[in-house]
Amino acid sequence: MLGKAPYIWDPTAQRHENESSKLTWKTLALGSATVLSVATLWISWRPLETSNATFDSTFSKAAVLQECDRLQMKAGAPAEFVSRKESDRFVPGTSAYLLKNATIWTGGKDGEQILHEMNVFLDKGIIKEIVPTSSRRFQSLEKEIQIIELNGSWITPGLIDMHSHIGVFPSPTTMGTFDMNSWSGPVLPGLRSIDAMNTHDALYNLSIAGGVTTVLILPGSANAIGQISFEHLGGQAYTIKLRETKERSPGSKVLSPPSHPNGSAFEEGGKLRWRHLKYRLTVGENPTSNYGGSRMDTYWAFREAYEEARKLKRAQDNYCLKAQKGLWKGLGEFPESLKWQSLVDVLRGRTKVHTHCYSAVDFDAIVRLSNEFEFPLAAFHHAHEAYLVPDLLKKAYGEPPAIAMFATSARYKHEAYWGSEFAPKILADAGIKVILKSDVPAVNSRYLAYEAQQAHYYGLRTTLALASITTVPAKTLGLDHRVGYIREGYDADLVVWDSHPLALGATPKQVFIDGIPQYPVAFVSEKSAEAQAPPKVPSFDHEANDALDYNGMPPLNGQTFPNVLFTNVKSIWTGSGYQDLQESVGTNETLGQVLVDSGVITCVAIDCIIPRPPIPGLPPAPVIKVVDLEGGSLNPGLVAYGADIGLQEIEGERTTNDGPVFDPMVGRVPGIAGGEGYLPRAVDGLQFGGRDSLLAYRSGVTRAITAPAHEGFLAGLSTYFSVGASHRFEKGAVLEDVVAVHVALGHYGRMPYDTKSSISTQIGALRYLLTGNGVGEIGKCFSRGEKTLVVEVDNADIIGAVLALKSEIESKSMTKMKFTISGGTEAHLLAEQIAEAGVGVIVRPSRPFPVTWDKRRILPGPPLSEESAVVALKEANVTVGTGVAELWATRHIRFDAGWAALESSGRITQTEALLMASTNLEKLLGVPDYEVSNDLVATKGGTILDFSGKVVGVISSRRKMVELF
Ligand SMILES: *[C@@H]1O[C@H](CO)[C@@H](O)[C@H](O)[C@H]1NC(C)=O
Ligand SMILES: *[C@@H]1O[C@H](CO)[C@@H](O)[C@H](O)[C@H]1NC(C)=O
Ligand SMILES: *[C@@H]1O[C@H](CO)[C@@H](O)[C@H](O)[C@H]1NC(C)=O
Ligand SMILES: *[C@@H]1O[C@H](CO)[C@@H](O)[C@H](O)[C@H]1NC(C)=O
Repeated sequence: MLGKAPYIWDPTAQRHENESSKLTWKTLALGSATVLSVATLWISWRPLETSNATFDSTFSKAAVLQECDRLQMKAGAPAEFVSRKESDRFVPGTSAYLLKNATIWTGGKDGEQILHEMNVFLDKGIIKEIVPTSSRRFQSLEKEIQIIELNGSWITPGLIDMHSHIGVFPSPTTMGTFDMNSWSGPVLPGLRSIDAMNTHDALYNLSIAGGVTTVLILPGSANAIGQISFEHLGGQAYTIKLRETKERSPGSKVLSPPSHPNGSAFEEGGKLRWRHLKYRLTVGENPTSNYGGSRMDTYWAFREAYEEARKLKRAQDNYCLKAQKGLWKGLGEFPESLKWQSLVDVLRGRTKVHTHCYSAVDFDAIVRLSNEFEFPLAAFHHAHEAYLVPDLLKKAYGEPPAIAMFATSARYKHEAYWGSEFAPKILADAGIKVILKSDVPAVNSRYLAYEAQQAHYYGLRTTLALASITTVPAKTLGLDHRVGYIREGYDADLVVWDSHPLALGATPKQVFIDGIPQYPVAFVSEKSAEAQAPPKVPSFDHEANDALDYNGMPPLNGQTFPNVLFTNVKSIWTGSGYQDLQESVGTNETLGQVLVDSGVITCVAIDCIIPRPPIPGLPPAPVIKVVDLEGGSLNPGLVAYGADIGLQEIEGERTTNDGPVFDPMVGRVPGIAGGEGYLPRAVDGLQFGGRDSLLAYRSGVTRAITAPAHEGFLAGLSTYFSVGASHRFEKGAVLEDVVAVHVALGHYGRMPYDTKSSISTQIGALRYLLTGNGVGEIGKCFSRGEKTLVVEVDNADIIGAVLALKSEIESKSMTKMKFTISGGTEAHLLAEQIAEAGVGVIVRPSRPFPVTWDKRRILPGPPLSEESAVVALKEANVTVGTGVAELWATRHIRFDAGWAALESSGRITQTEALLMASTNLEKLLGVPDYEVSNDLVATKGGTILDFSGKVVGVISSRRKMVELF
């Protein structure tokens, strides 16, 4: 082994190596001391990852020569793979299935191929045959196999999530399961995600319920290179299928494992299986923060590591050259290193390199590294600035890397600040491969399809949007010979959808993995015939061009007009529902006009303006801005609650945020801040004009209610303001200085290290305050009971304790408290008691995600349960509002509302969903006169609830204007 029997460097054998490599060879000598000590460390270890043959003298020369031959093997799919008769993952006893009359998006012909009226036969874990529904094939078998009639439903390949932390950052996360990083150094290529993959993650099954079947599990981002660690060279990644296995082990989930437990370099048909390595390059919360290093340190560490690998590779090649020539004398042992072998495999082109990085500076450095050491890059992950530099991406060694990104999540750290919702479209237009991923728990991977839907909404072509979660990740993972397509001979992984997979709220009716149906009963609501076609989406070409023209920072403000005439309007929101223009005007015309003067509607008619011919002596008629809504609507302005909107610009960048208030429960509040009487107000920290605020505004969110940012028990007093205002003194900017008083109760602080007071202490504190014991501002506020008390709580047991406390206080004081629960992930378990107590619930987020223990008992909604939490609470007569959990998601409130209605089987109307996202929130958060809704939002081509509508303006009577975008 290396260190025990140093190999002999023979420069003559390596003439083909280029000049630059000689340079680095010299520089590397500096680092050799460390390398040797690392090597010594490994001596006692049996190599797991390299070869079966260990090449000590007891092994035959033939074995050495065989191993040398293997060094030349390429990774990839063996040619005969598709002709296999049975999948290696087939579970004996699984019956064969015939899916009848499917509409298939196959992934073939660059995503253009769609097959109608097809039967798909699944057997032995494989898609065995695809035949026309009219064919009589399999008729004789029908008694022995399971038949599923699809009546034309869409099927797609099982979705592939190419950036997941399932199992290594499980939901719910606990101290005992958070295992995705290593803190032992920046360059840890030997770390493997598979070694940390916990099998108890709720997201395995929840993601399957979203159609996801295969995921790449990456180490976290604390190591620069890690197969499963946190930052620079962060470790090796593994592809798994999500379904449960009989063995129940992480290992049995792995798809095409690149190594074998007994150490064999795994091969099939003369090909090696791909390995995956993760790099993480970012400054801020990831590698550099943990090691105190800078970008320059990181890249130096990379170059040192690669030089080490290059040395080892040369030594191996050189060794083999000699062995093959029969020069055995003094040859010693085959040079190998468990630690560096995965990088040697990068240099040998057998490892897919996945780089977690964001900005042009990192793309540039990595592209340089790939050219210096001559290895291709499989993908840049996150890569929020990639759309700004497509030409740079094309300079990478080999093919340009694919870009694996979020659809709209951005601005969570400085490097993500330039992110754009148009990036998928722009990159695709530039010929770069686009992949949408979840990075669960960053985005709930159950909704991976929604990522593709959003990318489609913002301009990515239908075929590419579907490819971004199927065929492109399959190719990038080197697994497109078995997953990512619906083709004969491929793994029987497919999703049967209740609507077109890019339609809002598309839900799997069934998911097959290795030919095994994943749930016995699917609860899905009936979808309209329209929802079976790809959604018609608006054009954002203009906005996408702006994103480029302004180098990622397009202006987001609109232009204001006193008078606007909206033409071709289909419906108007009345405060309690939409009214069709046809009805309001009383004609048979389906579209009409709406005239707005100083923010107030002055005419609704078929023709609001009869053009006046010029009259001599009179000034010309006033010019009125005309906006054609193309069958669109005037909708209610929506309300954002729950995401620190107005207090935060870049989550990971403290200098841009208000920051959390003191938590008097765990630390002393300075006397100068009020000491025990401390009660902060959100209004004092308000920031206007933030990018997420304006993006939400341009998506129909006109008002927000925000409590002070907090990490502990006390939040303070919330404020009510206009999201589109540019500063505090603008008319209607701050709508109410103070609305409700907020506290947060729960078992955890910020995951995973904080400690928090016990629940009994938290309830005790609330009792203490509510019974008039508090001092100063906080004492006055709680004991008077005038303000609505908003309790952030998810766990049903704590909700129970809070309800009991409420009734205790009320029976003592003989007055009713105004009381609202926010969060409420488990509130459905006590829906009846909550209704009885007259308490409203803000469900936040509107679709549940069991990220913490307090949120684990979710009501998942279709297809896993008939009811969603929103339906269950509403039907128990609880007043329900819907909130958001993250700032970037405020722009999605409109789609969240549409989705809540779509998945409710008609139990929540569109009107109710809109009220939950507007007036109900104001009511539940203590806004006075909440019925007076002043804002309307104009959408072109559809309503605010669906993918066909585009927000083009806001009508505000408070601000006496119309703002057009
Ligand atoms: C690995 O070693 C074991 C035990 O010597 C042997 O049975 C097996 O065939 C070897 N595998 C390969 C791929 O050479
Ligand atoms: C397939 O389903 C569609 C939609 O329900 C139906 O119109 C068509 O007749 C079906 N085709 C066959 C061959 O059953
Ligand atoms: C609407 O009604 C008018 C008058 O009854 C009729 O002339 C016209 O054709 C109708 N238009 C449509 C589109 O039905
Ligand atoms: C909810 O309220 C409606 C109308 O008041 C009533 O008919 C229904 O029984 C109530 N439902 C429950 C579960 O209490």
